[in-house]
Parts: sequence; structure tokens; C-alpha cells
Amino acid sequence: MYLKHNHGKIPSESIGGEMLKTFDDLKRVAMAVKLADMRETQNLLIAFDQKLLPQFADQEIRNRFEDILQDDQKNLSILDTLIVQYGIQAQPTQNMLDQAHGSLDNAELNLYQKVGALELLKHQQVMNGLIIHKAAQKVGADVIAAIGPINTINFENRAHQEQLKAILEVLGVLELTGEEADQGFWARVQDAVAALSGVAGNVLHLSTQDIKVQDAISLDHRKVETLFKQIEDSEDPAKIREFFAQLCRDLSIHAEAEEETVYPAVRAYYADTQELYSEQAEAKLMLKNLQALNPSTVEFKVQIRNLKDAIQAHVQQEEGEMFPAIRGNFDEASQQQLAVRFNSAKERLQKQQMAHSA
Ligand SMILES: [Fe+2]
Ligand SMILES: [Fe+2]
Repeated sequence: MYLKHNHGKIPSESIGGEMLKTFDDLKRVAMAVKLADMRETQNLLIAFDQKLLPQFADQEIRNRFEDILQDDQKNLSILDTLIVQYGIQAQPTQNMLDQAHGSLDNAELNLYQKVGALELLKHQQVMNGLIIHKAAQKVGADVIAAIGPINTINFENRAHQEQLKAILEVLGVLELTGEEADQGFWARVQDAVAALSGVAGNVLHLSTQDIKVQDAISLDHRKVETLFKQIEDSEDPAKIREFFAQLCRDLSIHAEAEEETVYPAVRAYYADTQELYSEQAEAKLMLKNLQALNPSTVEFKVQIRNLKDAIQAHVQQEEGEMFPAIRGNFDEASQQQLAVRFNSAKERLQKQQMAHSA
């Protein structure tokens, strides 16, 4: 159903080309590493859940553990999506999880000790998530928007911690006395989780599985608008450079991913698709010209303004004309599938970009 696309309008060297090599902003890369660590940790949490689940005799514990596993799997998918939205892919810290891995496979440890190791890992994950959330507030509005869904993950991980502590209580009392612990603690867990949800506020769910391609594209458009605003509002040349570098990365990846997945799919249903290709080629040239300018100059401000206007018109065309063409010709499942393809393309391109800049 997807048409083959071979336009050669935008050469593939735009990814990893010189304008993308400016990973001058170390804190953005450091946050990307933390996010990669968080993804690693999330994978290991799931491995723990799967290994321990069949070992519980108690049905109540087993049910709760099944819920935790489901949350962890959903949160991995949310994490994947938000890392792509953040826009920088990094390698996780080496050997970071060796100790936890050791506990998972250690036959000497009993169930209590393994759940204890899982609870420690969960704690680490809560701290990862909270630190990323706090750091985002220092870096900029575009980062806060990109990692917004981390609040959902943090809230659920805090709730899981409370449940794991209760499970440890059951297992510990059983181990020491051979008797069942008093069951009143599930009510305490409930209270603790309720208290947490007040803090978490309204949590946003955003997993790759259920968003449509229009949602994925709109998220990028809003992020780019935020970056333009940050550039316009800032007087500090270092901050302007930082925001502009992120804008270059985001725009290039977004455009390339659209040309690879979305435009070829929509081409048969939207007559002006070729225009979209041309506009993106034009924007790419404008970006290149901006790259050569000093951000403190009037010339830079004028050209940023021109780029912003061009992008705005392009975005309006996509959202006002291309989106209805997608809605009218693709069923819901295809719209979701296209989102998955669009996001995977972005992820792959971001990894390439990172490799080139290294
Ligand atoms: Fe777009
Ligand atoms: Fe576009």
C-alpha cells in the first residue's frame, strides 16, 4: 500500500551533515545518557518481574505482581517514545546494572532476597526518573514538553515501590516465623498510593502502540514551535546556540522521517505532496544559511523569523490538508501503524546522527 519513494530531493547526507555535528551542549547529551540508563533499567525490571512472577504461591501477591509487570512493559514503550521525542539517542552507562543482573541469576538467593534486589532496582529507577524530571526544568521548555510522560512512569514506579515493600513484609515474616503476616498492610499500601497520586497530578499516557501518525507529527510540530519561541525570547548567545542546535536536529530528523514513511504513504491520496518535499528542501537551505551566522546579529534574527514563517506555513499545510487526507483514507490501525514506522525511522536516524557526531 505504501508507494516507493525515490526523489533524491533531500540527500541523505543531511543526517550527520555538518550542521548536525554540533553536539556542543553537554548537558543535553548527559540527559540522553540518563534516559538510556533508564531504558536499560526498565528492561531489567521486566526481566525480574518475569522471572519472579511464577515463584509466588500467594494469589494476592501474584495478581499484584502481574499488574506491576504490565505497567513496566507499558512504561518501557512510553520511555521509548519519549526518548525519540527528546531527540538525542545515547549509549547507556557501561556496567551500570551488573550488580542487579548478578542478583537476578544468583541461585544462592531466596525469593525474599530477589524481591529485595528488585525493590532496590525500582528505587534506582524512581531516582533516575525524578532527576530527569528536575533536570528538564533547568534545560528548557522544549525538554520539559518532550519528557512530560516521565511523570506517569515516576508515579507508577513509586506505587510499585510501596507494593514491593509490602510483598517483602509478607515474605520476610513467612521466612522468620513460618506464618502468614497480618494482611492489614494491603490497606496501608492503598493509602500510600492514594497519597502519591495527589502529587503526580494528571498523568499523561503516551505509548507508541496507541498514538496515530498525526499525533506523532503534531508532537514534533509543537516542540519545534517551542524551540522557535525559546530562540526568540533568549538574549544569551550560548542559549540561542543550544536551542538552535536542537532545532536543527529536530527539524532534520522530522523531515527525513516524514519523507521516508509518511509522504510516500499519503502521496496517492494528497495531490500536493510534492509541494511538501520542495518546502522541506527549501527549509533545509535556510537552516544551512543560518548555521553560518552569529546568533547575536540582526541578520540571524531576521533569518530565524523567515524560517519560522516558512515552517509555520508548511505545518499548516500538513495539519490542515495532509492530516484530513490521512484520516479519510487510512483506517485507525493503519494510522497507528504509520506512527510506529514514523517513530522507528526517527529513532534510527537519531542513532545515525549520534554516531556521526561522536
Ligand atoms: Fe511535519
Ligand atoms: Fe514536513
